[in-house]
Amino acid sequence: MGQKFHFVCRSCGYEIDGFEEWFAHGQKCPKCGDNKIYTVYHTDKQKLKKLVKPNQKPTSIWHYFDFLPLNNKENIITEGEGVSPMERWEFFEKFAREKYGLNIQVIVNRNDLSPATHTFKDKGASLAASVLKEHGIKEYVVASTGNTATAFAYYLAKANISLTVFIPEDALDENAAHIGALGQKVCIVKGDYARAKQVAKEYAKKYGILISGGNLDPLRLEAKKTQAFEMLRQLGRIPDVYIQAISGGTSPFALEKAFLDFEDTNILGKMPRLLLCQGNHCAPQAEAWEKAKERGFPEGWEYDYPIYQNPKAIVPTLATGNPVLYPFMARLVKKTGGEIFPVMEEIATDIARLVAYEKTLRIGPASAVALLGFFEALHRGYIKDGEMVYINMGEGYERAYTFLRDVAYTMQYILGADECQRFDRSTYHDKVWEIFYNYEKYSTAKK
Ligand SMILES: Cc1ncc(COP(=O)(O)O)c(C=O)c1O
Ligand SMILES: [Zn+2]
Repeated sequence: MGQKFHFVCRSCGYEIDGFEEWFAHGQKCPKCGDNKIYTVYHTDKQKLKKLVKPNQKPTSIWHYFDFLPLNNKENIITEGEGVSPMERWEFFEKFAREKYGLNIQVIVNRNDLSPATHTFKDKGASLAASVLKEHGIKEYVVASTGNTATAFAYYLAKANISLTVFIPEDALDENAAHIGALGQKVCIVKGDYARAKQVAKEYAKKYGILISGGNLDPLRLEAKKTQAFEMLRQLGRIPDVYIQAISGGTSPFALEKAFLDFEDTNILGKMPRLLLCQGNHCAPQAEAWEKAKERGFPEGWEYDYPIYQNPKAIVPTLATGNPVLYPFMARLVKKTGGEIFPVMEEIATDIARLVAYEKTLRIGPASAVALLGFFEALHRGYIKDGEMVYINMGEGYERAYTFLRDVAYTMQYILGADECQRFDRSTYHDKVWEIFYNYEKYSTAKK
């Protein structure tokens, strides 16, 4: 077995020595052929206690090197990802108090500040680039709705690894521009994300190139699990509730991985309750969940989920129409006492306006969906008095210019000064809050 870590097949328990063996077998279990593996570390788990002390000043996910599947620090490719601040948003707290009578703490993870590509996808990309470098791999393939592709393009370019990305045709244009400008190959696939994944797989198979393995790929999971460590370091505790906009759900799976790793210690403690939201135009997981819940979770409920062909989402970044890991996600959400629910994508611009007004912060559309998750969760009574609520906000505005243009609401075309009235910004206050103080009109909950 490797010195630092090994993998265990989730299906048959076969032990895989490390990436050498895993890559050599086409990222499949050599015994049963399954593609789902679990990373086991040989590191003393107590080491984490020191790493999460508040006096620590990490500069990237690599602060947690001991719990990441890389052997040699010389291979690290980093840009300062994974240590974005977790901020208290008091204007959300005030709203919860005024409208719902709840005294809660709201923490938002500012992944938009991630230096390389302004999303939480930078973490997985940093680990992937480092591991691929360690194993001398020069070419790689990824399918993505946009953000993963852009993050991988950046970090792999930094490691001088050629990347071919496959994105669906509805992915935000700016992603293709960023990837192309970095000199990585972009294939815009006619079809939806499921089709892009299929084409990527065929291409990788044809030329024998390694491909990023989806929501349970250790290169994504292991990097993203550090979010739990950062909660402990930055907040001093694990929050009660975790809110996120999901597509396939890599981040909640990754969060679970951290808790599973430290289950036999008292270091991390209990996993937060998962409150996961999806945009209403592509919400197969939310739809399946609500159906199962209505029926009292009958035998086999987690295998009953819809597949949307060519979903027409307003936020394409989140549009996974065929959530193949829903059975795993559904069980995980249930285990934590959580919920999966849709939010109205039509008001994504409104939440972005509110946040820009109150925080001087411009956000991307997938972040808007995550924040709407907070309002929907409040309305549905999913948040309890006294809780610490954490929102894993995924992205900045940097590759969402068209969205930002829709968010903007103060433009006026004029011929001369006569047409331009005096302006007082404070008059917008009530306007940007109006929808949220009348949120019941916009909720997706059945009336
Ligand atoms: C900004 C942003 N938020 C949320 C998600 C959904 O992440 P997950 O893979 O955890 O479902 C994505 C994935 O594309 C994303 O880019
Ligand atoms: Zn196996």
